[in-house]
Amino acid sequence: MKNRKEARWTRAVEDHQAPSHSLFDSPQTFCYAPRRFTARCDEITFTPMNIKDYLEQKRVEVDRFLDSVSPPATTAPTTLHESMRYSLLAGGKRVRPILAIAAAEAVGQPSPGLMPIACSLELIHTYSLIHDDLPAMDNDDFRRGKPTNHKVYGDAMAILAGDALLTMAFDLISRPDLMKGCDPARQVRLIQELAYGSGNMGMVGGQVFDIQAENQDIDLPTLQNIHKHKTGMLIRAAVRMGAIAAGAEDRQLDDLTSYAEDVGLAFQIADDVLNVTGTREELGKNPNTDAERGKKTYPTFYGAEGARKLADDCVARAIVRLSPFGPAADPLCELARYITSRKN
Ligand code: IPE
Ligand code: IPE
Ligand code: MG
Ligand code: MG
Repeated sequence: MKNRKEARWTRAVEDHQAPSHSLFDSPQTFCYAPRRFTARCDEITFTPMNIKDYLEQKRVEVDRFLDSVSPPATTAPTTLHESMRYSLLAGGKRVRPILAIAAAEAVGQPSPGLMPIACSLELIHTYSLIHDDLPAMDNDDFRRGKPTNHKVYGDAMAILAGDALLTMAFDLISRPDLMKGCDPARQVRLIQELAYGSGNMGMVGGQVFDIQAENQDIDLPTLQNIHKHKTGMLIRAAVRMGAIAAGAEDRQLDDLTSYAEDVGLAFQIADDVLNVTGTREELGKNPNTDAERGKKTYPTFYGAEGARKLADDCVARAIVRLSPFGPAADPLCELARYITSRKN
């Protein structure tokens, strides 16, 4: 006679998916089954894995590395370094670096320079948040549980801290000491991926679409295009960079790119939903700001519940693309689920 946990596990294996309850909210140590097997759980061998521990461990590693490569606040120009560290080391879920690491693990080959590669994405992301919060953009007062960078250091220093973080990202993945062992042709490809995902055709382009759409009567394809660029393109770059670092074959890169595109859209839909359902304590930033700034979001079109369902559909589609990777992609699978179940 199976207990309830085993029954849920078996059902999940038969449905080709991990158990539906959030592993992140559960204090119990809980292993789930690789999705590629249709056999019953007592007939196959598992590598036990706890995604909550995985995320926490990677987050700590990323934080430690970011701290180690950021100049101390005592280094001149001191205000700039203080301001950079203020935002960079303020917390943050580190989703983009962890996606890069998990993508490399899914491919499963040695990946020299993986940590600087992963952290370059966080440097770009943090710069984008500092600029996104400026009065000329979203004009937000709180981020990562603290007053926004410009509230503390002023607009000029916030702009410059963002500029410096952006530049530092490219320094990190170009440095011979940090990228030792990485094939030079692969390294150039990684630098190009980062530039493309971050720039005018990627995140920055998306921020332009977003600002231009304020107080406009935009339609759904326009909104989807904003989300795919402002948030989706950096998430796409994260997954692709992890995969490229590990020497992914073309077919693997295609699968992981499709995964990333769906996860990126789901991530921003979830952000839209949290903007209307979350509290400042949960989010570490003010809620309801989208409506206040005249931004149309997924909940505007579908309501919070409908938008959440659409994000879940994206996640389900993303997970299908992981099946060729087997259990090596379990962290990517759970990351996708986390992206819609998160509370901040
Ligand atoms: C918030 O990103 C802004 C978006 C692109 C949606 P995150 O939700 O990843 O923010 P942090 O890094 O955890 O603070
Ligand atoms: C942020 O999007 C996107 C980037 C910073 C590139 P939002 O403006 O919707 O995210 P929050 O709600 O401020 O975090
Ligand atoms: Mg914005
Ligand atoms: Mg914003």
